[in-house]
Amino acid sequence: MNQDLFAKEHQLFLPTYNRIPINISHGRGVHLIDKDGNKYLDFFSGLAVNALGYAHPEIVKAVSEQISKFAHLSNNYITDIQIEFAELLLKHSNMSKVFLTNSGTESIEGALKLIRKKEGPDKKIFALTDSFHGRTYGAMTLTGREKYRHGFEPLLPNIFHIKFNSVEDLYEKINSETAAVFVEFIQGEGGINVVSREFADHLALLRNKYGFIIVSDSIQCGIGRTGKPYSHNHLNLYPDIIVTAKAIGGGLPLGAVLTTEKLSGVFETGKHGTTFGGNPVSCAAGKVVLHEVFENGLINEVAALGDYFFSQLNEIKKMFPDDIKEIRGKGFMIGIELNYEGQSLVKIMRDKKVLINCTNNNVLRILPPLISTKNDIDFFLYNFHESLKLKK
Ligand SMILES: Cc1ncc(COP(=O)(O)O)c(C=O)c1O
Repeated sequence: MNQDLFAKEHQLFLPTYNRIPINISHGRGVHLIDKDGNKYLDFFSGLAVNALGYAHPEIVKAVSEQISKFAHLSNNYITDIQIEFAELLLKHSNMSKVFLTNSGTESIEGALKLIRKKEGPDKKIFALTDSFHGRTYGAMTLTGREKYRHGFEPLLPNIFHIKFNSVEDLYEKINSETAAVFVEFIQGEGGINVVSREFADHLALLRNKYGFIIVSDSIQCGIGRTGKPYSHNHLNLYPDIIVTAKAIGGGLPLGAVLTTEKLSGVFETGKHGTTFGGNPVSCAAGKVVLHEVFENGLINEVAALGDYFFSQLNEIKKMFPDDIKEIRGKGFMIGIELNYEGQSLVKIMRDKKVLINCTNNNVLRILPPLISTKNDIDFFLYNFHESLKLKK
């Protein structure tokens, strides 16, 4: 490993990140290759971004074509590529209108502004404990984990938290003074926690009664990752707003706020905006992602292979009951909760040339590219099994 790179990083950058000690040369498909020629299976795909892996030929082609025309015009113009992308996005989300952004946190801020404008300053906005919604002030205030908020107070007013999956807490806190509830129907950063059907059903019932807005934060768990377009599609619940980002840009910065027809008139012209949001090059890459995932059937493979992946992991769990506490998630969004901190296993797996992530201290987070094959999964399973043996 090139120590120089780390010394330079230390010298030049604010120390916000704990970088992985690999000097990457390039990526191909589901693999990352370092400058010494080592090839790694990347099973967290740039934190759920690289749905089609690295250097996907269709993305390279679409991006090259678009950038040779124009990389950026500003949202003073509407372009063909934005229209084509928006049509596909709305078609597969059952929503009516879209606002394009650069990132997850910008999508959350857009949704928050829309809610405040519609519902006024006094009503309460809720998110769930253990949630993660982003790093800007609104998104950070919504985030239900103290470690991300501590030291940044004062936060935004009138934002509170409901205990994850607690129907009792839901009934205690929700009433006619509720403006909105933000939910990751499968929490990512919080440790791959799946919202229960019971909780979702009661949330929907309460919305019928009080008329508040349900926001599905699908930034990590959307765009087919769970084997359905969005994680709320596993439940009998229809959100009023979907926020998305990460995978929809195929590796380029892109996000979206999607709304139902009912909310389509809240922002008048000039009330909200962005310079880079909906960048044409990002939209060109995003169009390829949506086409592959939804129109070409990649999502069905994720659903089928996800079932296989879970069944095999559960077999491994039986062999290592002292190590593995629980396996959670859906499709290609998998959390393996360990009975101890996870970083040491991440390191052992990395030595075996498999890249995974650990969140919430003891949850291995597996987020394979959606193009991963059964062979890739088997390679992961073999090395995970071997790594657990080494841990003994
Ligand atoms: C569920 C969820 N919401 C919001 C965000 C923030 O997205 P971004 O990092 O693109 O601002 C993330 C990022 O990890 C996320 O996982």
